[in-house]
Order: sequence, then C-alpha cells, then structure tokens
Amino acid sequence: MNTIGVKLRLTIFGTSHGEGVGCVLDGAPPGLAISLKDIQRELDLRKPSVGIGTPRMEEDVVIPLSGVKDSRATGGAITLFIKNADKDSDKYKEFAFKPRPGHADLTAVMKYGDAHDIRGGGQFSGRMTAPIVAAGTIARAMISQIGVGVGGYSMAIGSVVDKEEHPFGDIVHFGRGNEVRAASEDMEGRMRKEILDAKADGDSVGGIVRCIATGLPIGVGEPFFDTLEGELAKILFAIPAVKGVEFGAGFRAAAMRGSQNNDPFVISDGRVATSKNDSGGMLGGISDGMPLDIKVAFKPTASIAMEQDTVDLRSMKPARIKIEGRHDPCIVPRAVSVVEAAVALTLADLCMRGGFID
Ligand SMILES: Cc1cc2nc3c(=O)[nH]c(=O)nc-3n(C[C@H](O)[C@H](O)[C@H](O)COP(=O)(O)O)c2cc1C
Repeated sequence: MNTIGVKLRLTIFGTSHGEGVGCVLDGAPPGLAISLKDIQRELDLRKPSVGIGTPRMEEDVVIPLSGVKDSRATGGAITLFIKNADKDSDKYKEFAFKPRPGHADLTAVMKYGDAHDIRGGGQFSGRMTAPIVAAGTIARAMISQIGVGVGGYSMAIGSVVDKEEHPFGDIVHFGRGNEVRAASEDMEGRMRKEILDAKADGDSVGGIVRCIATGLPIGVGEPFFDTLEGELAKILFAIPAVKGVEFGAGFRAAAMRGSQNNDPFVISDGRVATSKNDSGGMLGGISDGMPLDIKVAFKPTASIAMEQDTVDLRSMKPARIKIEGRHDPCIVPRAVSVVEAAVALTLADLCMRGGFID
C-alpha cells in the first residue's frame, strides 16, 4: 500500500519514468506556515552530487497542486507534484526478462506480470523518496513548533565509520554543508575517497545514516502495536535499499549485561533524564525524553558498472547483464534527507495522536 500514518496521512504516487512523482499529505493543521523554499532546499539535498555520484541533473522542482494558499496550509489535503525529467527508458526493457541483481525487477515482474512499469525501476525506484522528502519538510515544520529537531548524517560509508559523538548543531550545520553529509571534515575526506575508489572499480558502497531527534517530550508512541520504534521502523524499512534499523545500542545490547545496558535515571534541570542513552530515547515503545538515536543501514547501490550474472527468464538459462549509463556509487549521502523526512513524518503523526500537537 502507498499510504502511511494515522492523523497525519501520507500517500505517495508516481513512477520513476512516468509523468512525475508526488504526494498527498492529509492532516496538517490549517494555518501551518508552508515554505516552498524549505521544501526545495530539502529536495536539493536529496539530489545526486556531481563530485561523488552521477552527473545526472535531476531538476526536482516542487509544484503545490492543493492545500497550500498564501504559504499556509488550508486544512485540505496538500498535494505536491514533482515532474520527471531526463528520462531514458529504452534500456530498461530487457530487465523485464533479464532482472538486475539487487533490484526489484524479478520480484515485481513475478508479482505484477507485464503490467509492471519497469522503466527506471517504476514504483520501486529511489525516486519515490523525493515526495517523502517534500512531505517530511512539512512534518518538520509541525514538530519544530513543539521544539523537536531532527538531524542526520552519514555515520558510515563502506568501511569508513565515524565513531565520534557530534553535537547536534554540528550534525545539522556541518553535515548539511558537504555533499557526503559527513559530520566532520576528516570524515568528509575519507568518506569521499571511499566512494570514489568504489566508483573507479566500477563498483558501489553502502553505509549507515544516523539520525538524532531532540526535544521530544516524554510520552510519544502508542503501545501496544503502534510503538515509537515500530512506527519508525515501518517507514524506514519502506525506503529502498534499507537493510537494517537500530535504536540506541541496538544489536550491541544483546551482548551486554543488564548492569551495562540499563540507562541510570538522574535528575537534570529538575527533570528525569538518563545518564547515558543505550535505549535510544525510548522505553516501552514510548519516548523517554532523551534524544532519539536511530541508525539506518543501506546496502551498496545495486546498479554497478561491472558485468554481472543473471538469468534469462524466457529461456530459463544463465545470462550476463551490463547496466549501462549513470550509476550512483553510493546513495547514502542522498538518503540522509530521506531518513530525516521519514523520522519527522512519524514523529508528527505520533505527536498528533498523543495530543502533543493540536
Ligand atoms: C535516495 C535513493 C536513491 C537511490 N538511487 C539508486 C540508484 O541510483 N541506483 C540503484 O541501483 N539503486 C538506487 N536506490 C536503491 C534501489 O531503489 C533499491 O535498492 C531497489 O529498488 C531494490 O529495493 P531494496 O534494496 O529495498 O530491496 C536508491 C535508493 C534511495 C533511497
């Protein structure tokens, strides 16, 4: 299904090489300031970067079709449309019978038959994340009204891992100012090299996006089934190429003792806090007032320049495939704004459900 959220409902539509992609966002409070400039800025952060990615010029210009008047939400459904440009669909035809390894070609053709729009990966394309980013900007505006901020950065690119803790301000400011979305100058250089080395080999790399949300009040999340972790995981796993989602200590917690893993409670500025944050800001599926700490693992880009093994579904014989054209050697820097948007959308929805936003 293409809709997510309860009080703030997002529906996305479109395909990679069709007319365009877009979203309908329902539930934004009437009168909310909507800045098309902010939406455009977030979309620009999702664009491929010439220095580390593909030389493709994706002109993602957002067109508001409904729900926005005089830069304010009207209370009606907000429809945002982004036209597709720069389409070269012919080369995708063979993928219907020679599926690209690592892509959804095989599963989509098996499930939808020849009705599947294979051009550009159709509805499975990373392009579907552009409207998520656009809608996420509106969600950000909603949660910022109650003091919640969301910031992400590239925590790992291939084998280069950023193990440092960065102040939230650095993540937001430095991380947004470099095309790798690294949180420090040292990491920017090393991550860039990792990407360019993979590209030189005709290969690709994956990585980890870390996303922090600050200022969340205690009480966000709707157990038993609509927990904060559960709702975040659902939207994050919908992002193409996501293979893992971790909160706080995550998988490391399994090897800890309780005495190590438990976050001791303390009083800080007259409020209950914890002296460390291995729980990632959640207890019982409810925000505990500490920053949310989310890590999202992305696999290496499936489209690589080197020739690969596949099968020919017509003859049911082994075949070789070479994916021509432009390749993003690493999608992680582009995915940072997608993860931020997904987190903001979930927080806005759950804050509305919990009565934290009217
Ligand atoms: C922002 C973004 C851009 C992407 N761009 C590409 C790309 O250029 N080439 C590619 O092979 N995969 C790209 N992907 C990932 C594929 O869409 C994805 O791996 C594929 O549809 C299979 O889905 P799965 O990896 O979730 O199983 C992108 C993903 C995101 C989030």
